[in-house]
Amino acid sequence: MKILVLGSGAREHAIILALKAEDAGHELLCSPGNAGIAADATLVTVDQLDGRAVAAYADEHGVDLVVIGPEAPLVAGVADALRERGIPVFGPGKAAAQLEGSKAFAKRIMDAAGVPTGRAVRAASVAEVEAAFDDLGAPYVVKADGLAAGKGVIVTSDRAEALAHASQYLPAGPVLVEEFLSGPEVSLFFLSDGDTVRALSPAQDFKRAFDGDAGPNTGGMGAYSPLPWLGEQFGGERAFVDLVTEKVALPVIRRLDAEGTPFIGLLYAGLILTPAGVKVIEFNARFGDPETQVVLPRLRTPLSQLLLAAASGNLEAQPQPEFADDVAITVVLASEGYPEAPQTGRQISGLADAAGIEGVRIVHAATAGPDAPGGDLVATGGRVLNVVAVGSDFADARTRAYEAMGRIGLDGAHYRRDIAAAVAE
Ligand code: AMP
Ligand code: GLY
Repeated sequence: MKILVLGSGAREHAIILALKAEDAGHELLCSPGNAGIAADATLVTVDQLDGRAVAAYADEHGVDLVVIGPEAPLVAGVADALRERGIPVFGPGKAAAQLEGSKAFAKRIMDAAGVPTGRAVRAASVAEVEAAFDDLGAPYVVKADGLAAGKGVIVTSDRAEALAHASQYLPAGPVLVEEFLSGPEVSLFFLSDGDTVRALSPAQDFKRAFDGDAGPNTGGMGAYSPLPWLGEQFGGERAFVDLVTEKVALPVIRRLDAEGTPFIGLLYAGLILTPAGVKVIEFNARFGDPETQVVLPRLRTPLSQLLLAAASGNLEAQPQPEFADDVAITVVLASEGYPEAPQTGRQISGLADAAGIEGVRIVHAATAGPDAPGGDLVATGGRVLNVVAVGSDFADARTRAYEAMGRIGLDGAHYRRDIAAAVAE
């Protein structure tokens, strides 16, 4: 198949690596991509936010499937333009992508579908925010309504800090003040063809910048999959996945379909396992980053088959995706100053050495270059790359990942040392 992947991050690199690993001879194209993706796919230039341009490109070049990686092109309606031209595309249209694009929309759909989630109040002024704080109590959770690259949410017991965060976003429109939910978090991905869903294996993301969940929220500093403790709590991963399929994924997919805005693509359920049961913290309309980097290396079913089946309304004919017993962890290398003010333009060394460790892949997020043949790559953003390690158990995978990380040089960079530590005993 000729497959065009839109996006430039580690998620897109992980998707391309999984397609390449099928050994099916796919022709892989990516726009805009990054320096790591360039080694595994052909980089092409098409404006990923311009649906007509993407559709024209796909038509002209005989692309069989377009996979939209990030949320911005989804919210911009790129999938709609492709569907109008009859080009198979994995990714929801503009209307269904509001599930991620607007927290208020997501809450409305969840309410209508009877999906368990935290109680939330829409507040349009400082006075309304204060009233919601009084009503819901501490810790305070405030969410900006639109896309905010992981920076729109604050969870804090400091009322002044919560209020300041709300005030920052209020000029742009109402914010959501949400009930604080406590418990372990799980990211669960569902492929959807608008009607049928197929779940992938659960993963856990590490959102905070520093060890021990200290520091600000980020786009994600690491992840692991599977989650061995889920089995103990729910009687096996399958039982958990079935429960979430029944209580969360299918009701949402059916509701969106009933509203005439079918969700075709990846439904990412961000869940929290509270003492009162599983609740949804958020939905995303695309693969999670960095969870994808640990879920796809364990997937045994060919990814292209699943994506094409979802894009063409044939998921029902697909058996449940199968996963290896191996475990995977990923550790994100971030630039100095990330997430507030990442320093960019610095050279990265040691990548070939790091990739030489068995079971290790370097998945690129924000890399460019080299300027001259044989030179070093340069970091161009906050989350620079992911070290992904697959192993027979978490202790094994951690040893490999951190050994690889130790071989990579980037001045001032930071990464978490505690990814999957709790499950590695
Ligand atoms: P979101 O951008 O909605 O995923 O939120 C970012 C992070 O904030 C989540 O992964 C949680 O760790 C935390 N969070 C969001 N909503 C809540 C909530 N209602 N209660 C506790 N933590 C939350
Ligand atoms: N890992 C969080 C996200 O992809 O939104």
